[in-house]
Amino acid sequence: MKKIIPAYVRVPVIFFLIFGAIEYFIDSGDRAAFIKYPMVDVILLVVLLLLIAIEMVIKAADNIVYQLLPEEEKARLAAEEQLPLKESAWFKNLMNKLTRTVPIENEASLLMNHDYDGIKELDNNLPPWWVYSFYACIVFAAIYLVRYEMLGADNQEMELKKELAQAKIEVAEYMKNAPDLMDEKTVTQLTDPADLAIGKTTFETNCAACHRADAGGQIGPNLTDDNWILGGGIKNIFHTITNGGRDGKGMISWKGTLKPKEIQKVASYIMSLKGSNPKDPKAPDGEIWVEEATK
Ligand code: HEC
Repeated sequence: MKKIIPAYVRVPVIFFLIFGAIEYFIDSGDRAAFIKYPMVDVILLVVLLLLIAIEMVIKAADNIVYQLLPEEEKARLAAEEQLPLKESAWFKNLMNKLTRTVPIENEASLLMNHDYDGIKELDNNLPPWWVYSFYACIVFAAIYLVRYEMLGADNQEMELKKELAQAKIEVAEYMKNAPDLMDEKTVTQLTDPADLAIGKTTFETNCAACHRADAGGQIGPNLTDDNWILGGGIKNIFHTITNGGRDGKGMISWKGTLKPKEIQKVASYIMSLKGSNPKDPKAPDGEIWVEEATK
């Protein structure tokens, strides 16, 4: 056995089996456990060192045992070491167990009394590997029959449908808590001064050139009055900033430049300016916007 799987194969294989098991059993979300939890790296390192240590101990023990053997045993072992794999005793043994073939010298013992014009029939054993696979199939079939036909477990189609339904719920849940995926349907007005301060900075950097620092209006309309060209309220304002104004009017879409979260903040900031009455405002544009009764 040691001969076919040398230590430099055995150690990595066992190591990666343990590694795989750890990744499988530790729920680390979308990142690998060994990245998320540094402790896992430490454990893996210890496991690796342990595996190497075990190999070294076994090797040393083998050496000692070998030294203690009488000369003829040593010679026998050495001869066995030299044998190619296919000739080694355990390999022959294994093949014999799997196939139960009768050596060709003893073929006569299998001969049946059937002789058709000189064509003779041998009564070979069914190879055990085949017989056991067959039994395994029968067991599988029985379990399958009971599970799917009698107890009515989900088939693939049903499983897929359930997974899709579950995924939909998870996406809805995710959208709720992921402000960066906000759209005008889910946006809410922020009132927290910290958020408004960020909105103010964004406004002063990107928007003041056209709307004036106090939002009283210049190229772009006054954003502090009750009149709105494209509709007031957080949802419409969010929509305007995200998608831009009417073609050719100068209000571009900020979709790529600002994140939805930033647009939410600057829109909330604009809403907080309502009625701030800046000096020399631009004449009102558009309709007076009345917020619909709270939905
Ligand atoms: C290049 C000049 C310019 C810049 C920069 C600009 N806007 Fe505008 N904005 C306009 C114009 C012009 C309009 C009118 C659009 C229309 O009539 O369709 C407008 C309209 C708007 C409206 C709708 C007003 C209404 O009455 O419906 C909002 C809200 C708005 N801008 C917010 C912003 C925000 C927030 C920024 C910065 C992220 C910004 N704008 C940057 C020129 C600009």
